Amino acid sequence: MTLDSHSPVDGKRLLLIIGGGIAAYKCLDLIRRLRERGMTVRVILTKSGEQFVTPLSLSALSGEKTYTDLFSLTDEVEMGHIRLSREADLILVAPATADMMAKMVAGLADNLATTTLLATDKPVMIAPSMNSRMWHHGATMRNFAQLVQDGVHVIPSTSGSLACGEVGAGRLAEVDDMVTALENFFAPTGPLAGKHVIVTAGPTYEAIDPVRYMANRSSGKQGYAIARALRDLGARVSLISGPTRLDDPHGVAVVNIESAREMQTACQNALPADVAVCVAAVADWRMASEAPQKIKKQGGEIPALKMVENPDILKMLSCAGDNRPSLVIGFAAETENLHDNAKAKLKSKGCDWIIANDVSPRDGQSVMGGDHNRVSLITASGTEDWDNAHKDEVARRLAKKIEHYFIEHQG
Ligand code: CTP
Repeated sequence: MTLDSHSPVDGKRLLLIIGGGIAAYKCLDLIRRLRERGMTVRVILTKSGEQFVTPLSLSALSGEKTYTDLFSLTDEVEMGHIRLSREADLILVAPATADMMAKMVAGLADNLATTTLLATDKPVMIAPSMNSRMWHHGATMRNFAQLVQDGVHVIPSTSGSLACGEVGAGRLAEVDDMVTALENFFAPTGPLAGKHVIVTAGPTYEAIDPVRYMANRSSGKQGYAIARALRDLGARVSLISGPTRLDDPHGVAVVNIESAREMQTACQNALPADVAVCVAAVADWRMASEAPQKIKKQGGEIPALKMVENPDILKMLSCAGDNRPSLVIGFAAETENLHDNAKAKLKSKGCDWIIANDVSPRDGQSVMGGDHNRVSLITASGTEDWDNAHKDEVARRLAKKIEHYFIEHQG
C-alpha cells in the first residue's frame, strides 16, 4: 500500500476473469488504472476472451502471469484455481457474456474461469456486456436475476452503440465507472471511515557506527494493536514503525523506518491527518555524528559517545499549524510518579490526550514486550484509570474514545 494513494482499492487484490466479448479491450485500460491505484490484478483469460485480447498484453499490464487453461500442468502446479481465488479479495467477471452468466447460474465447471467461480468463497462481481437482444432475452434476464439473488455484485451495463452496429442496452460499463464501482465496493465503512490516522510504533535505532546502534525494549505491540483497532473502525491508517518482529497489519499503510529523524520525516510526509497517536518509544538522543567506519578498540581507552537530542515527533505534530491533526495523542512511559509526570508531558508536548503508561516491571514481567498494559487516559477533562488489560483491548478502548471524540466534535 502506498501512502500517497488514497484509493480504497489500494492494497486489494483483484482476480479479473475476462470473457469473450469485443469490449474485452477495455480491460487493458482497467488493469492499468487499478494498478495505478495500488491494486494487484491477476487475470484469467477465457478461451473466447483470447480472441479479443492477448495474454501477453494482459501480463505486460498486470505485471503477473495470465492464466488461461485449467488443464495446463504448469499452471496447476504453480497456481491452482483454488489458490487463484484464495489470493483474491474480489473476483470481477468483465465482460460477463450471456454464456458466462448462464454457466455461473448452472454451476458449470468446464474451464479455469468457471471452475474458479464455482470453487470460490470470495465476493464475485460481474460487468455484463452483450448484444442488446441477447441481454433482453428471457433466459439472460432470468440468469441475471438469479445471479443477483445469489449475491453476485453488478456493475451495470449501459445503453449506446454496440459492436454489432445496433444501438441499445448491453454495453460494457466505461472504465471510469468500473473503477468507481470497485472503489465503492472497497470503500471503508465504520464510524471512522474517511478519517486518516498516523500511528507511530516500536523503538527507533540510532546508529553509532556501521555495525552498532542504540535501541530500547519497545516491541511495537501496543502501537500495532492501536493501528488495527482504528482500521477496524474504518480509518485509513498510516503506521510509521521502527524495527519490530511483528507482521504488517493487513489494510494498513506501513512505513518502516529506523531512526527518530526518519520517523519524523515519514510523519511529515503522512500529513495531513485527522488523528496522530504517538506510541513509539523514540530514542531521546542520537550520536552527534555517526562514525563512518567501525569504531576500533583504542588500547584500553573507552570511547566517549557524544550525543545530541532527537527531534520530538509528538511535539512537532502538536505544533503543526494548519497541518495539526484535530486530535494528537501521546503516551507517557513512566516508572515513577505516573500521573504527575504524564500531566506534565501533556502540557509540555502540547498534545490533547496522553496515555500514562506504567512501564515498571510488575510481578517480574515487563510491560515492554509483554501482552498486557495498565494505562490511564489523561485529557483536559480529567483522568480515567483503565484496568490492566490485553494490549488489543487497550487499543479497542482507545479507538472507541477516538470515535466518540469525533461524534462530539462533528463537522
Ligand atoms: N516522543 C516523540 N518523539 C521523541 C520522544 C518522545 O514523539 N523524540 C513521544 C512518544 O512517542 C510518546 C511521548 O512522546 O508519545 C512521550 O514519550 P516518553 O518517552 O514517555 O517521553 P519523553 O518525551 O522521551 O520524555 P522522558 O524521556 O524525559 O520521560
